[in-house]
Amino acid sequence: MSKKIYLYGNWKMNMTAAETKKFFDEFAGIYKPASDLEVGVFSPFTSLWALADGAKKNGVVFGAQNVYFEPKGAFTGEVSIPMLAEIGVTHVILGHSERRHIFGESDEMIAKKTKAVLDAGMIPVLCYGETLEEREAGNTFKVMERQLKSALEGLKPEEIAKIIYAYEPVWAIGTGKSATSGQAQEVCEWSRKLIADPKVVILYGGSVKGSNAKELLSMKDIDGALVGGASLKPASFLEIYTAYKN
Ligand code: 13P
Repeated sequence: MSKKIYLYGNWKMNMTAAETKKFFDEFAGIYKPASDLEVGVFSPFTSLWALADGAKKNGVVFGAQNVYFEPKGAFTGEVSIPMLAEIGVTHVILGHSERRHIFGESDEMIAKKTKAVLDAGMIPVLCYGETLEEREAGNTFKVMERQLKSALEGLKPEEIAKIIYAYEPVWAIGTGKSATSGQAQEVCEWSRKLIADPKVVILYGGSVKGSNAKELLSMKDIDGALVGGASLKPASFLEIYTAYKN
């Protein structure tokens, strides 16, 4: 039996509500659901209602790219988990490298968010990965161990099992230069051992596209892709799965 592939699109700060509607008009025309494929889309907050509508009509998973861990209160500019739940959001990306590096989110903050999302019965898509400097200094595994251990500290095994993990080397994000399949497999295999649950879902993210999908997704410890740029158009997004299958 072939493994299930998770094809998740992180739209980042792209796609207005109108553009989201247009995306799904086009998506509906070309998407062929398959038993070994789970598609997920993560939009900006303001597009979530439009995303919910399009995703539900097409039977795909949808989620947000961030959330705050407090349920309500004086936190100007933040969005809470109950606000996302009202829209039907089931998944939330946490700890993306852009949150860590551009907005200064700490390991502690990401750990609090991970716990809060799990407590609400939602699924965190927990991102981690090293920068180029960290890799070149030989610190790849040290950095990731810190990121993963701090997010998972104090969680029960069944909570750890629910999380979807996304290894995203910072140097491969938006650069067009993906990690090699060997590099990505090495880290995903190592992550599975560190997480100490052989069945967890681990995605690779960083310049995934149709042309490198087969090589990356064929790796034993890579269960799918978290896709940025190529997820903005239905054709280039879905091509990642078809390239893997063909
Ligand atoms: P790109 O696919 O644009 O490199 O982005 C990857 C990413 O950051 C997904 O979260």
